[in-house]
Amino acid sequence: MSRASGVLTDAVRQAASRSVLCWLATVDAQGQPNVSPKEVWAIADDRHVVVANIASPVTVRNIAQQPQVCLSFVDVLVQKGFKLTGTARELLPSDADYAGWAASLLAMTGDRIPLRSVLLITVQGVQPIVAPSYWLFPQTTTEAAQIEAARRTYGLGD
Ligand SMILES: Cc1cc2nc3c(=O)[nH]c(=O)nc-3n(C[C@H](O)[C@H](O)[C@H](O)COP(=O)(O)O)c2cc1C
Repeated sequence: MSRASGVLTDAVRQAASRSVLCWLATVDAQGQPNVSPKEVWAIADDRHVVVANIASPVTVRNIAQQPQVCLSFVDVLVQKGFKLTGTARELLPSDADYAGWAASLLAMTGDRIPLRSVLLITVQGVQPIVAPSYWLFPQTTTEAAQIEAARRTYGLGD
């Protein structure tokens, strides 16, 4: 049975767990885009993603001006992932609901890395991201073949 009734289905959750990094895109009041990688992030429930603000001043400033965001992630070996769109707001440690949203991020960082705040994204849209080979060459492109090719590209052993 699927855990999720919202947009963040089990398939999205599983892909997220296999993708180390996500890329969070924001825009400022003048329309200047900004995108940066985040490694401490999690799907919190079927509609929300949380991202740790450890060292993301531009992202935080942009969200305060313009809450629309786009967050994408791919499993670099399978070469599939998702693009999520929605709105974000910053939660500070002094906010009443901070502890609940921060919990999964703090489980990743422990005491080692301090969190300045949590970026809480309410997801409205979900689009799959798929390497073009899957639809350009459907007869020969399998997940196993893509993993093998990606391992060669990145110089990874077995
Ligand atoms: C692999 C990698 C993972 C990162 N993960 C995070 C993260 O989880 N949270 C964070 O705030 N910064 C993280 N950073 C650092 C930010 O991406 C970096 O400070 C960036 O310049 C912030 O830009 P911004 O102010 O535009 O958000 C990471 C950087 C790298 C290279």
